[in-house]
Amino acid sequence: MARWDHGYVTDVAYTTNAYQETMPSWLATCSVLLGFRPTDLAAPFRYADLGCGNGLSALIVAATYPRAEVWGFDFNPAHIENARAMAARSGLTNVHFEDVSFEALAHGDSSPQFDIIVSHGVLSWISLENRQYLTEAIGRRLVPGGLVYLSYNVATGWSAVEPIRLLMRQLAEGDQRRTDQSIPGIFQILDQLRTGGAAFFREHPGLEARITQMKQQDPRYLAHEFLNRDWHPVMFAEVAEAMAETRTSYIGSATTMENIDAFAVPEAVIPVLNNATDPATRATIRDLACAKNFRRDLWRKGAENLPVREHLALLDAVTLAWTGRQVESAVTFAGPIGVVTGQPEFYNPLLDAIRDGPTTIGQLRALPALRDRQPAEFVQAAFLLMGGGYAHPVGVTEGNRADARAGAARLNRAIVDRLRYGVDLHCLAAPLLGSSIAIEVMEGLVIGRLLEGIPREAEALVDGTLNDLARSGRSLLKDGQPLTDPAEARVRVGETVRNVLERRLPLLRGMGVLD
Ligand SMILES: C[S@@+](CC[C@H](N)C(=O)[O-])C[C@H]1O[C@@H](n2cnc3c(N)ncnc32)[C@H](O)[C@@H]1O
Repeated sequence: MARWDHGYVTDVAYTTNAYQETMPSWLATCSVLLGFRPTDLAAPFRYADLGCGNGLSALIVAATYPRAEVWGFDFNPAHIENARAMAARSGLTNVHFEDVSFEALAHGDSSPQFDIIVSHGVLSWISLENRQYLTEAIGRRLVPGGLVYLSYNVATGWSAVEPIRLLMRQLAEGDQRRTDQSIPGIFQILDQLRTGGAAFFREHPGLEARITQMKQQDPRYLAHEFLNRDWHPVMFAEVAEAMAETRTSYIGSATTMENIDAFAVPEAVIPVLNNATDPATRATIRDLACAKNFRRDLWRKGAENLPVREHLALLDAVTLAWTGRQVESAVTFAGPIGVVTGQPEFYNPLLDAIRDGPTTIGQLRALPALRDRQPAEFVQAAFLLMGGGYAHPVGVTEGNRADARAGAARLNRAIVDRLRYGVDLHCLAAPLLGSSIAIEVMEGLVIGRLLEGIPREAEALVDGTLNDLARSGRSLLKDGQPLTDPAEARVRVGETVRNVLERRLPLLRGMGVLD
């Protein structure tokens, strides 16, 4: 390991990801729902991603908010090179990537101040010293009224994994190969321990399923997730301690359902929670109550509650768009402590309206069937619909839409080009949402053909996609083996093409991904 990397994995680049919870529209909407003024996304705001990896989140923000100035920081030069190359391919000039450490960010003064700072999946993978630099940088670079998003692994969900993960790191350190290449051997040893009767596995029966799930993941992801020198799932109280000097206040969670006590902890635990007033103690109780793995905390610099009427006006302006998630027999939400079912008399009219097109909370409150409902019920519904994957806030205002569409189209074409080179990316920019949407690789290839203006005709799309698959060096798999029968491959690609044309196309058009 080099010294500059402080024991963080740098011999292989991380996988390329983007997350809706880090996007300005999601964060600004959470701020309103939690009772605080949002970032003005119609104005030229500044956004920073600390530990941005290959920069896809920052790129999507820059593409969908052409008036924003977006920065990504990461100390791994390979990540910054990848991010800059994507910015250049997409012709994005409002995004800047810098290969700097958190220490340099905390102490230097060359970069500007930001309205939104996000750091996804970083804080629990770095040393205490670097955590301090990270929060120092946040404190120095956030404007008053600015929002911070910090996500990290929580000790309540990882305590049983801690000794296993130490062994993983030790095995990787003793292996001369690249960290991702040492992964199969590490799993082999873990399996030998388990099947050989190591008592730790007997005492933690959940470990087997967890390791089975880990084995499905990309080795580059696993290397960054488990093979760093530092790996410290933390409790909220420790993060609050690190954030103490930033002059920010904790306002709630970007995992929206966690903002509702009734869905975040079992009913019998609510009285214990209600007796606790200190936010850190409440967080400890909540995280123990659902054995939380991962938190997405929101902090704000200046956290005065809004006047009630201003809050109501901002709430009424929140616009929700349908994501395409269908209702089965009932509107259900899988939350921290299990599945909850929404009252049909409330949720059916809400979803009917949103399915017809983006709808403001003000319009929802005016629906005849819902006129007697209180504003707080709409706040709860928005948290549930967003968290349940039924709705996404609309972030891009009317006046910025044409530019956002153009920027997103250029970035999406660059993403498809990477797919055609065999690089696995799983997101596209959705310009009307001001966010990312998840895609499977094959769907991305089909959408790529549509972006080129190929006629929306199934057979032509199947031909194009088969061609792209072959060019990218990918094979379709059947029972884990490459599919060799061309007729069967054609049927499989045909299914994806039909799904895109019949189900996804209307939604993709509604989100501005396609015309
Ligand atoms: C687990 S990855 C998360 C990347 C990205 N946020 C994502 O979610 O895809 C952590 C990132 O933090 C960066 N990093 C770790 N320590 C750092 C430090 N001291 N200064 C700057 N970047 C650092 C790594 O290079 C890596 O890209």
